[in-house]
Amino acid sequence: MAGSAAPSRSAQAGESLRHESAHLHVSGRAAYADDIPLPAGSLHAAFGLSRIAHGRIKSLDLSAVRAAPGVVAVVTAADVPGENNYGGIVHDDPIFAGQQVEYHGQPLFAVAAMSYGAARRAVALAKIDYEELPALLDIRSALAAESYVIPSQRLQRGEPQAVLASAPQRLSGTVVMGGQDHFYLEGQIAVAIPQEDGALLIHSSTQHPTEVQHMVAHAMALHAHDVTVQCRRMGGGFGGKESQPALIAAAAAILARKTGRAVKLRLDRDADMVMTGKRHDFLADYEVGFDAQGRILALRLMLASRCGYSADLSGPVNDRAICHIDNAYFLEHVELVSHRCKTHTVSNTAFRGFGGPQGMMVIEGIVDDIARTLKADPLDVRRVNYYGIGERDVTPYGQVVEDNVLHTISDQLEASSDYRARRAAIAAFNAQSPVIKKGIALTPVKFGISFNATIYNQAGALLQVYNDGTVLLNHGGTEMGQGLYTKVLQVVATELGLPRAAIRVSATDTSKVPNTSATAASSGSDLNGKAAQAAAQTIRQRLIDFACAQYQLAPEQIRFADGQVQLGERGISFAELVRAAYHARISLSATGFYRTPKIHWDKATLTGRPFYYFAYGAAVAEVAIDTLSGELQILAVDILHDVGKSLNPVLDIGQIEGGFLQGAGWLTCEELWWNARGELKTHAPSTYKIPTARDWPARFRVSLLQDEPNREDTIYRSKAVGEPPLMLGMAVFHAARDACAAARGGDGLSHLQAPATAEAILRAIGGLEPLA
Ligand code: MTE
Ligand code: MOS
Repeated sequence: MAGSAAPSRSAQAGESLRHESAHLHVSGRAAYADDIPLPAGSLHAAFGLSRIAHGRIKSLDLSAVRAAPGVVAVVTAADVPGENNYGGIVHDDPIFAGQQVEYHGQPLFAVAAMSYGAARRAVALAKIDYEELPALLDIRSALAAESYVIPSQRLQRGEPQAVLASAPQRLSGTVVMGGQDHFYLEGQIAVAIPQEDGALLIHSSTQHPTEVQHMVAHAMALHAHDVTVQCRRMGGGFGGKESQPALIAAAAAILARKTGRAVKLRLDRDADMVMTGKRHDFLADYEVGFDAQGRILALRLMLASRCGYSADLSGPVNDRAICHIDNAYFLEHVELVSHRCKTHTVSNTAFRGFGGPQGMMVIEGIVDDIARTLKADPLDVRRVNYYGIGERDVTPYGQVVEDNVLHTISDQLEASSDYRARRAAIAAFNAQSPVIKKGIALTPVKFGISFNATIYNQAGALLQVYNDGTVLLNHGGTEMGQGLYTKVLQVVATELGLPRAAIRVSATDTSKVPNTSATAASSGSDLNGKAAQAAAQTIRQRLIDFACAQYQLAPEQIRFADGQVQLGERGISFAELVRAAYHARISLSATGFYRTPKIHWDKATLTGRPFYYFAYGAAVAEVAIDTLSGELQILAVDILHDVGKSLNPVLDIGQIEGGFLQGAGWLTCEELWWNARGELKTHAPSTYKIPTARDWPARFRVSLLQDEPNREDTIYRSKAVGEPPLMLGMAVFHAARDACAAARGGDGLSHLQAPATAEAILRAIGGLEPLA
């Protein structure tokens, strides 16, 4: 059968099938964009970047760049044949800056040369004269200047002002949190290969091949049918390859057009980190009213994020933050203002959770502050605020929480992690440990699944059955390591009763499945699994109809399993049936399509049912801090997470572990730091610290919530798993907050802000002040 190294075994949905490319990943044979053999005469490209944050270009002298050894072409804004823009929603993202420069690291021009080294050396020879203007670099300065990329949004329910005024207790404060670099192992890359008659083939490391196709077409003054975009896999995307790849691909295409040769544009790590957008940092000023149990009665909130110089995906990211400001909690009277701040920094973008994590961090910070004010266990305050079942169950944006498993998860996890006893043991430990202080926290996650914008919740698939009985599958989703191809393969294997080796998933390709959405919002398997299922069911039905006529059978007498087809009493191989169908001239390829039902969203009022369902989870983290150095260590983690009826438990657990640690990294060691000139100084692993194997806790337990299939009709009743586990990382931050409170004697608020770096922890506990 197909030349895969995987053994021929059952690959039904629900089995822990290994990743379809595992054998290639571990042996170095998995081909990424940079591994694709190039045509003879191919060129290598590099960008020339702005060295100021804000200003005008007085003169751009590229004569030395053009004259440098090995240089074949140099292009600027004037060389863009079509629209000089790659902004998908608001057209405010120039491929190359014109007169106006809006961030340090903005691309001004690009060079194609005989080698990558030659291109990089050449860009350094540019002579640029700038007129510098004052730059807005942070959220507070942008708020003061009322500098926004898009208009602010407001959502109100109930009577927050009046209820706040009469609340028994009130508190106000600020929650701040940093951004995050995606740090995908494979950086941004595109290869543009000219085809006959003006057409273009693009290999792009992208979560969104269709957007790359459209943006390249617009930039080149071509049509969509002139541009084909392919992506077999990415070495990680995490949201950073939703909108950014269009810039890289467009620049490569412009150079390919100019030279008539294939052009590879691969960013090195420093350029990638300086040039491309990250997770939005946020701040929130709040005023909350609550009762003696800590139940929130009213909340007023000003939410602001640093969007950078352009809109990019900041509108939807901030909308998702608004839709997750509740996290697990019922907020009856609430007023929310959301500002999308324009700054002279890189334009921030999608990142796993897409604004949801930031919204949830705000409410978790508020709940923690309430608990510490009341001197209550934060878990008790969390639980009194949980959404109810059949009551207190409507979100601020009007969606009813119909599938609430928060109480079940919290009960089970509290018991299995031994939370109460450990909290008591930690208090006893802290009482006799002057330097090392421990902390513990249980934090919940409720995350809405679907794109807020209803239009994106659609997908297509193309299934081809060859007359030897093997199957080639294409769908609109992209593979970034999350295991989407494996899960969709399992869907087809289940529908056609085929072993793993009978099915090959080939590269995502805009010429096979058109008009796809980004593989994002965790909806990859929900959407593409259903689309592939529809295609497989079409093929199966055709084969059943054929067999009924051919062998005089009723449809119930035909069964597909284990590569065989049971035809009444007789069994034949799937391949035999397919061959017979081919001889009878039955079509053996089919498309499948899916659109998510029940969802709607009113962008103007921020209300509706944006999410088909919610995914839930909770984590308990225990940490220790060193009060002399500020060092933080994760000691133990217990997770209980809801994936409905799992499509593939081993892949789901992998997503939970990876998501959790990425979330913990965001909130602890990963710190982005810009200097007063707006230069990002943390643009390499030497200065930007992501979690590594050494940060993995000695005790780490993950369980999948059992016996809770999705109540909605998703693919085999599974739930999305890509993003929700990232927010389990909040438990680590809140355990660190708990430890900081202990270090201050256990009284009052914990002032720890994210990320909880050693410096932040020392600041929160008052430096080297003697401990109580
Ligand atoms: N897992 C790996 N290994 N690599 C990634 O880049 N991206 C995450 C998540 N898990 C990512 C990942 C993000 S941001 C999303 S939206 C989902 O995967 C997308 O894939 P899915 O919809 O198929 O879950
Ligand atoms: Mo994920 S941030 O939706 O790509």
